[in-house]
Amino acid sequence: MKNFIEQKFNIPNLKGISAKTTEEHLKLYAGYVKNTNGILEMLGKLSADPAANSYAMGELHRRFSFEYNGMRNHEIYFSSFEGGAKSLSAGSSLRKAIETETGSLDNFLSAFKNMATTTRGIGWAILWYDRKDKRLLASWVDEQHLGQLNDCKAILALDMWEHSYVADYQPSGKKQYVEDFFTNLNWEKIEQNFSETVG
Ligand SMILES: [Fe+2]
Repeated sequence: MKNFIEQKFNIPNLKGISAKTTEEHLKLYAGYVKNTNGILEMLGKLSADPAANSYAMGELHRRFSFEYNGMRNHEIYFSSFEGGAKSLSAGSSLRKAIETETGSLDNFLSAFKNMATTTRGIGWAILWYDRKDKRLLASWVDEQHLGQLNDCKAILALDMWEHSYVADYQPSGKKQYVEDFFTNLNWEKIEQNFSETVG
């Protein structure tokens, strides 16, 4: 069976987010890759006798999107720091799309940061590209997988699980973590995610 490969990220020193937090966080990412592969492997074995294993297989099928999306969400998150902080250039296609959708980059940032900061519970603040209607959407995903939007590609993913920031910011520092995420963000990576999706 073809396995998913754990990606390696070249993450520079970040404002606010410590190297230790990143190191520990990458271990969690590795766990998602391992479990994604593990579920597929286990399903393969159990399929030798699907009648006898139907309950176990059903639970694994249900679990798969949690592990798979946990893997993919983190790949977007970590890769968006690679190359260091870079702004979103004025003439870029992503910036134009953001301005079309929200009026200005500032409007988008204000609304997105507010969503990330005030939505209760663990999950992700995500900017999507809706392939069908060719537009941007921002929404919240609970855990790793609950609320993923069909046929939308995540192009920016902000991890709002507490493991992302509590060690460095304390629970009360969530707002500063969100600010620092955007300070650390390489928008060229997000632009690339957008361009690859739009085609
Ligand atoms: Fe995470």
